[in-house]
Amino acid sequence: MIKVIFVCLGNICRSPMAQFVFQQMVDEAGLTHLFEIDSAGTESYNEINHAGIHYGTRNILTQMHVPFVEHYSRQIRKSDYEKFDYIIAMDESNVEDIQALIGADKNHKISLLLDYTSHPRKIKDPWYTGNFDETYWDVYEGCQCFLEWLKMNKAC
Ligand code: 4NP
Repeated sequence: MIKVIFVCLGNICRSPMAQFVFQQMVDEAGLTHLFEIDSAGTESYNEINHAGIHYGTRNILTQMHVPFVEHYSRQIRKSDYEKFDYIIAMDESNVEDIQALIGADKNHKISLLLDYTSHPRKIKDPWYTGNFDETYWDVYEGCQCFLEWLKMNKAC
């Protein structure tokens, strides 16, 4: 089992988008049985407010025919670090925030989604940019390259 958790700040825009885009790629590759895929945020306010997926992320997932189920925001916790093999963040501030919450990345599990592409960069936050299309295509590219990397390196 390959356990992957996508992490952003609020867990309502980017990381649930990545969770469901990656799930669809895994399903279409016939690899569903090999993966557990989840998402979380580094902040707690959306968990406290029981926030679901942002309408901008819902809209773009629907538009792109990416299946999704309801997901309620939750903050990443130490047990996630033990449980998941890959902790995939959207930007450097997510990485700093994850480490502030769970401690040093002693098992080298944390990476940035777009580090798997030929053009590493951060995934901009559509909460601030309002541009869910741009974020979708960055997430799509990152998920495609991450799955290819896993196929080459982890024999799935
Ligand atoms: P996300 O975007 O990290 O991609 O989910 C955000 C969502 C909510 C907030 C910030 C960023 N917020 O401040 O509530």
